Amino acid sequence: MTSADRARGAFVDRYGHEPSLVWSAPGRVNLIGEHTDYNEGFVLPFALPQRTAVAASPHAGPEWTVWSESAERSVTFSLSDLVPGALRGWGAYVAGVVWALRGVGIDVPGARLAVVSDVPLGAGLSSSAALECAVLAAMLDLGGATDALPRAQWPLLAQQAENAYVGVPCGIMDQYASTLCREGHALFLDCRTYAVEQVAFDLAVAGLSILVVDTHAPHRHADGEYADRRATCEAAAAALGVPALRDITELSAALAKLSDDVSRRRVRHVVTENERVHAVVELLRADRLDAIGPLLHASHESLRDNYEVTVPELDTAVDAALTAGALGARMTGGGFGGCVIALIDAAQAQEVAGAVAKAFAEHGFAAPSAIVATPGPGVSRVA
Ligand code: GLA
Repeated sequence: MTSADRARGAFVDRYGHEPSLVWSAPGRVNLIGEHTDYNEGFVLPFALPQRTAVAASPHAGPEWTVWSESAERSVTFSLSDLVPGALRGWGAYVAGVVWALRGVGIDVPGARLAVVSDVPLGAGLSSSAALECAVLAAMLDLGGATDALPRAQWPLLAQQAENAYVGVPCGIMDQYASTLCREGHALFLDCRTYAVEQVAFDLAVAGLSILVVDTHAPHRHADGEYADRRATCEAAAAALGVPALRDITELSAALAKLSDDVSRRRVRHVVTENERVHAVVELLRADRLDAIGPLLHASHESLRDNYEVTVPELDTAVDAALTAGALGARMTGGGFGGCVIALIDAAQAQEVAGAVAKAFAEHGFAAPSAIVATPGPGVSRVA
């Protein structure tokens, strides 16, 4: 059963009638372009087949009740809770979206919702963005405003909910991916201008697969470290007199102007990562998907050595996948735990997943899990 079918069923069980509508939005992996979005650079994510579905109906009065299958409970909030900080936990992501929509003058009616998700939680696959984007689409639709707000603005409001209401300083990549990705494509996004290009990413034609390995490593201090990386990048941009690190054109000249080694390494990562995104896009446009492997690995090495956001589980998974024959592998998402992607021959999935599991056992790490990911569509109404 799809998450949408389960959300509909959960809604009926919970509220005793059919929902008016069901929307669903996907999780994502990022092919390349890590920690570049908040530096106004470039990213290249694609949507996972795993989705979060929201079944909803309007309900009398400005009050919202949300049942979550994974939390096994519901949260109710009303107008007085639409103040940043009023709610904590998963309910804040839903309330934050209502708050952000009302902030741009969209009158979201009171509603009952049921949320069901296939996106693994806390694995760095953007379960939060999938929830925000599915709720946002459902709420817009309930308010009859689906066409009132251009779809390119949906991710910005979802991000605003997360930044300003929930209090997580994420960039724009995840919400854009969850909203605008297309089946069979990766989304090339300029995080300054929000220009998008759908880049064909046909793994089957190339005889290749992307294996997503969830390390199950606990996210260690991820929020504080993420905020710290952002602050270092912003300070470096200010010291270099550019609006954002995206604007650096001469890397060696920029590095020569910075006095501390940490800033230099962070800048080196962001500038070279943006170059790698462009190089991967060029190869995909030229139908050379099989040639992107070394760029994926170079990205991982830079995230490990320059940006310092990997953990031993991520490095071990990448090394084991490459030793087992992967064309390229890298951590994906914010780091400090989460997932690795490996570009592999389509026939090699079991072998590579087995090699990673063996390496984890040898290191005494918890067993990883692996799925083969095909690029799916962004947010859509399913019923
Ligand atoms: C997290 C954030 C994104 C992005 C990545 C790193 O997933 O939510 O905005 O910054 O980390 O690329």
